[in-house]
Amino acid sequence: MQVTRLTFEDYRNLETGQWEPYGGVNVIVGENAQGKTNLLEALWLFTGGKSFRGAKDSELVGFSAEQCRLTMDFIAAEREQQAEITVKARRSATLNGVSLSSASKLAGTFCGVVFSPAHLSLIKGGPQERRRLIDAAYCQLRPSYVSVLTEYARVLTQRNALCKAKTGGDAVEELLELWDRQLAQSGCRLIHARQRYIQKMAPVAREIYQGLSGGKESFDIRYVSTVEHTEEKTAAEIAAELFDFLQKHHREDLAAGFTTVGPHRDDMEVLIDNRSARSFGSQGQQRSAVLAIKIAEAVLLEEVTGERPIALLDDVMSELDTSRQEYILNHIRDWQVFITCCEPTPLMQLRGGKQFCMSNGKLSTIK
Ligand SMILES: Nc1ncnc2c1ncn2[C@@H]1O[C@H](COP(=O)(O)OP(=O)(O)OP(=O)(O)O)[C@@H](O)[C@H]1O
Ligand SMILES: [Mg+2]
Repeated sequence: MQVTRLTFEDYRNLETGQWEPYGGVNVIVGENAQGKTNLLEALWLFTGGKSFRGAKDSELVGFSAEQCRLTMDFIAAEREQQAEITVKARRSATLNGVSLSSASKLAGTFCGVVFSPAHLSLIKGGPQERRRLIDAAYCQLRPSYVSVLTEYARVLTQRNALCKAKTGGDAVEELLELWDRQLAQSGCRLIHARQRYIQKMAPVAREIYQGLSGGKESFDIRYVSTVEHTEEKTAAEIAAELFDFLQKHHREDLAAGFTTVGPHRDDMEVLIDNRSARSFGSQGQQRSAVLAIKIAEAVLLEEVTGERPIALLDDVMSELDTSRQEYILNHIRDWQVFITCCEPTPLMQLRGGKQFCMSNGKLSTIK
């Protein structure tokens, strides 16, 4: 995967024009509020995902414009391709001149991983953010997983509506049992998929984390589910156990007005030296842990798709000591990488990448 040209028109604060990035490490240096993150966000949109900053589509359009357009020339599947994204009232996209039914259909053609300081919520935030990040990573790996998520959400909404009605009685019990069966069926697919993803990702992330810490710290990650020891169970066993749990929680669920057990409440635990990274990790350790998970995500994507994703690293170097910075740059030196930072760093110059300056939405090359 390689981006050869990016053209922007009325996108956020970026000056209308085009940019030809370097095939290796691109370092984008600039003061605060110049448009560095905006640039990474523009590249990310071509993965078919929504903005990694959680922005609404309409916020992508430049303040004084009605619509914005981004065009990307890239090499994927060993050929030159072009994708275009237009944001007006909604986001639409074309791929090689053909309109797609939705901009999210770009997923699978262009792939990337992104690290943004907001992703530290993978460690610091609540379980919901962790679930969202694993689900998003797995969707890039297996696009069909989207339908598993949608189906689970649909059944959960129905069951929750019934819990909210709070009528009780035999009729409700019977209806609940019906939803329990369906929720257990789609829930087990969710748990099974997440469990499989974490099992694949953990050893890769562990190795990267060990490299980052110079072999001084251990790292582990595990899925914490309503159903225990999911790694040893088949999908059918997980479904049976989940059904059992749901059955036993009718009274609580009716009192709470929602479904209190199930994979929508599961979590992922990150351990550094066998202790919770969330409770005990330092800033640098937490950042390293998220980076290890993100780089592992890219390694898995490459294994599955045969295509090396681009890496977008927003403000990644702050809080990391020189040896950790050095390790990251070494580890991804054969990828096309986009790194933003406020100060030019001598380390990056050493790696033979190219540095660009972002000033007031305008990119220029730093010699
Ligand atoms: N839709 C928009 N139209 C015009 N300008 C916008 C739009 N959205 C954001 N901006 C401007 O873009 C600037 C922020 O850009 P960005 O977040 O990329 O900065 P940055 O270079 O990453 O800064 P930092 O180093 O602080 O992270 C802000 O000044 C903001 O006003
Ligand atoms: Mg920024």
